[in-house]
Amino acid sequence: MTDSLRAADTALAAEAVAFEFEGRTILGRLGETLAAALTAAGERELRETRAGERRGLFCGMGVCQECLVEVDGRGNQRACMTKLDGPLSVRRQSHLAAAADLPSAAEPPLAEEEVLAPDILVVGGGAGGLNAAIAAAQAGARVLLVDERPQPGGQYYKQPLRATFPDDTQFAGGRALIAKADTAGVAFLRGAQLWGAFEPLDLMLFDGAASRLCRPRRLIVAAGAYERGLPFPGWTLPGVMTTGAAQTLLRSYAVLPGKRVLVAGNGPLNLQVALELARAGAEVVAVVELARRPGPWAAAALAKMLTSTPMLALRGRDYLAELKRRGILLLHRHVIAGVERAGDGLRARVVPWPAEGGAAGHSYEVDAVCVGYGFMPSNEILRALGSRHAFDPGRGHLVTERDGDGLTSVAHVYAVGDCAGLGGAPAAEAEGLIAGVAAARSLGLAPAAAQERAVAGAQAQLRRHSRFQRGLWELFAAPRLLTELAGPQTVICRCEEVTLAEIEAGFDCGAQSVGAVKRATRAGMGPCQGRYCGPLLAALAASRRALPLDEAAHWAPRPPVKPMRISDIVGG
Ligand SMILES: Cc1cc2nc3c(=O)[nH]c(=O)nc-3n(C[C@H](O)[C@H](O)[C@H](O)COP(=O)(O)OP(=O)(O)OC[C@H]3O[C@@H](n4cnc5c(N)ncnc54)[C@H](O)[C@@H]3O)c2cc1C
Ligand code: FES
Repeated sequence: MTDSLRAADTALAAEAVAFEFEGRTILGRLGETLAAALTAAGERELRETRAGERRGLFCGMGVCQECLVEVDGRGNQRACMTKLDGPLSVRRQSHLAAAADLPSAAEPPLAEEEVLAPDILVVGGGAGGLNAAIAAAQAGARVLLVDERPQPGGQYYKQPLRATFPDDTQFAGGRALIAKADTAGVAFLRGAQLWGAFEPLDLMLFDGAASRLCRPRRLIVAAGAYERGLPFPGWTLPGVMTTGAAQTLLRSYAVLPGKRVLVAGNGPLNLQVALELARAGAEVVAVVELARRPGPWAAAALAKMLTSTPMLALRGRDYLAELKRRGILLLHRHVIAGVERAGDGLRARVVPWPAEGGAAGHSYEVDAVCVGYGFMPSNEILRALGSRHAFDPGRGHLVTERDGDGLTSVAHVYAVGDCAGLGGAPAAEAEGLIAGVAAARSLGLAPAAAQERAVAGAQAQLRRHSRFQRGLWELFAAPRLLTELAGPQTVICRCEEVTLAEIEAGFDCGAQSVGAVKRATRAGMGPCQGRYCGPLLAALAASRRALPLDEAAHWAPRPPVKPMRISDIVGG
């Protein structure tokens, strides 16, 4: 499907690797994810649910657990995070395999010398984490950086498998940061996830083979964000995925999600990804945007953006011009009303929003539907450690309370970037630098004068960027939809297959809090741990009882903060 891109990869023949999927032999490329290889081969149906539905790649970043497969008999492997490193045998995972995955024998206890004890542990190797790690290491701290992805870079700076995708400032910037971290002496633990965070600072990591205990003197959390879930009929069908998942397929692995693609949601990332897909050869049938079309009313927002970060504002203008030049329809104040199977592909119905007296809308037959309705912070590590959060109605999510250095309400724990409140890559970079220097200083190290000057520069960058963000989101202001697009039978909890009707019945039968609804319906008890349905249910429960949507209105995070096989937990 991305034939031209993949064919352009001259290393393809040399690095091709054959693997089995459900008895079919597929040719993939060493180092790409199973999800990328399977998508390129047209295999989109991955795990099978209890009700017998097939699910496919959805988040593309290890959060939703919809891409679970069995690899060489080992269950619960996320196809989007598992690298193709040899001739594997891959099968669809059925829900039964997940339950059967228990340890066969007790593992030996952890030896004391195996405890990792860096000065500073940085969790997350994106814009925020890399900058924090570099700053702290340059100030003289022993820094360990863990990231569950095989390659550091996070979302903004994600790197290509090889130079198959045209180089750009995002790739080059990420490459430079990773090289700078290496030079500064940052130790990397790649493909390792932090799954347990216990007070005071006992942190459990899984490095792909074993669980490790880490006891750093300081912790900097830079875990980023994931895409907000907006349920509509058909949002669980294979081929419907987040805009970020499509972007990762393309930018990291030179794979298109489909030949004909519809992009829908709210915010500038959708415009960027639509253009990236079109430039790579996809036919983007439309970009569906929930916000209204900019007009004279947008002058104040544009002024904020132009006077704070003109380069980014002009990039947005260029996106719009290129969409027009390429003839890609940009439909403002529209949403996806539903997606259904149509032959080998999908049919998506797009309607005006707010609904206009039964307007029929448009239908598009496509291979893939990419949806992006904004992001939610990955704050589970911070919340598990007990750091205070407050609900920000403007941004629609919990924000971590921090001082000017990024220090949270928990001693020795810093938070930077999107995990603490969505602010974009430039803010994550500035916060990372400030927190890295502050954490090193708190250990008694003395950062050089140049670093102190860099901190002052980062503080100024933060102020500028926050003004830019305010303007940007005035431009993209849109109603924050919850379950308005869902019908009674639409699945709200993707993992446990709980429908809107079942959730409403739970509320109607007396379950008032979000915890009671969870117990009554099982919503949020599945492997994604309520990351998609949790914020929706919290908002519904709070509005039914006219209570504030504060931290107490949300589910408490529980270990493991990332799904783990029981055998891997017991092994540690
Ligand atoms: C899917 C997606 C695509 C995006 N694409 C763009 C774009 O193209 N352009 C743009 O301007 N902005 C984009 N953004 C927004 C931008 O990427 C972010 O604002 C920026 O990356 C924030 O940097 P960060 O360091 O806070 O987080 P990230 O860059 O997201 O980095 C967080 C890192 O933490 C790691 N991590 C999380 N939890 C754990 C754990 N428990 N254990 C180990 N590692 C963990 C993740 O693997 C990730 O690498 C995107 C955001 C998302 C979510
Ligand atoms: S698509 Fe792999 S975990 Fe979401």
